[in-house]
Amino acid sequence: MERIAVYPGSFDPITNGHLDIIRRASRIYDKVIVGVLCNGGKNPVFTPEERVCMIRSVTSDIQNVEVDSFTGLLVEFVKAKNAAVIIKGLRTVADFEYEFQMALLNKALNPEYETMFMMTDTKYSYISSSMVKELAGFKGDLTGLVPASIINKIQEKYK
Ligand code: PNS
Repeated sequence: MERIAVYPGSFDPITNGHLDIIRRASRIYDKVIVGVLCNGGKNPVFTPEERVCMIRSVTSDIQNVEVDSFTGLLVEFVKAKNAAVIIKGLRTVADFEYEFQMALLNKALNPEYETMFMMTDTKYSYISSSMVKELAGFKGDLTGLVPASIINKIQEKYK
């Protein structure tokens, strides 16, 4: 049986921390499906299409990674993709408290799905999409925070 995992998030935009989790997860699972949430309540800067496009471009060298967007409940997306594992990255204790609650809620919604946590690489532990956007807003240097190939795309939004 194929081991399919879903890595969900807003990815507004994808960071090097996200990409590191995707790469590492792709070595553990047969297929990793990156799920971009369309209707989160966070007023995203990038459209779902832009976010999917950026993620596809920076993961194009990883054979077993797919990228798709979703609306509604994560467990429904996991079901639609025939997956059974939800991957979450953890950076801080604050992440853990929120993710612990989400994992329990998703378990209550569908006990067949497991949430697997992956610790961030320490060199990415301070990076978040919010920080990237704030820095981009101040015309700061995004080198090392996001994949080099999407820096222009992010900066364009803040011209
Ligand atoms: O990158 P984020 O913003 O931390 O990602 C959060 C995400 C998309 C994983 C989470 O908000 C989510 O799963 N949303 C889908 C709706 C859902 O299933 N919520 C939990 C039950 S109410």
